[in-house]
Amino acid sequence: MRKIIVAIDGYSACGKSTTAKEVARILGYRYIDSGAMYRAVTYYFQQHHIALSNPREVDRALKNIKVTFKINSKGISETYLQGLNVEDPIRSMAVSHEVSQVSTLKPVREAMVAQQRKLGKQKGIVMDGRDIGTVVFPEADVKVFFTADLLVRAFRRQRELLDKETLIEVDTIIDNLVERDKIDSSRTESPLKKADGASTIDTTHITIDEQVDEVVRLAVAAMIRA
Ligand code: CDP
Repeated sequence: MRKIIVAIDGYSACGKSTTAKEVARILGYRYIDSGAMYRAVTYYFQQHHIALSNPREVDRALKNIKVTFKINSKGISETYLQGLNVEDPIRSMAVSHEVSQVSTLKPVREAMVAQQRKLGKQKGIVMDGRDIGTVVFPEADVKVFFTADLLVRAFRRQRELLDKETLIEVDTIIDNLVERDKIDSSRTESPLKKADGASTIDTTHITIDEQVDEVVRLAVAAMIRA
């Protein structure tokens, strides 16, 4: 059967990654978390004190940065930076606070998009992010746009962080989600918006299984058409 590309975009903490991971598992496809790539770059910049206002420093750092993914013993994809597992630190609030600013930078986007297109060359991929259906793979066979009520998103993110033994007040999370959505939607380079032909899924009142079923249904329909 011909392999397809599934592109999932949308606001922060709407359940994109959870859904994309499970859809990829069901289809036997590769899952790529593009947000993890921007988070890893942000973490590198923080660790190396890169000044975002200095284009030469940014370019030099980008030439050095190697973000890769490896499947762990539980079959879950984890993010590596310079060969080290950074799955936990890239989810910290320190990174969440800066990642959208870093993601506005054109050289950062160019470097990440080039890598993402390479990863999608063979198709058979589910990728989630903000610009996957609009910029990275505008020709994707399936495009989905996720949205959800802000409070629901904030409580879901709080629970995810709690699972990693980090307690963050829900108001702090709300402020971060609002701030990131605003920067992501209003930036000049590849702003977050619904791609042409994308199906909207509002995850406020539905379960993860229902989200997954809906995307799998769209993927199967696209495979039949292909
Ligand atoms: O998990 P969450 O929904 O909070 O965000 P994420 O997918 O990990 O993405 C973190 C940030 O990376 C976003 O807020 C965007 O600023 C940026 N990003 C982007 O600009 N383009 C993408 N394709 C993916 C993420």
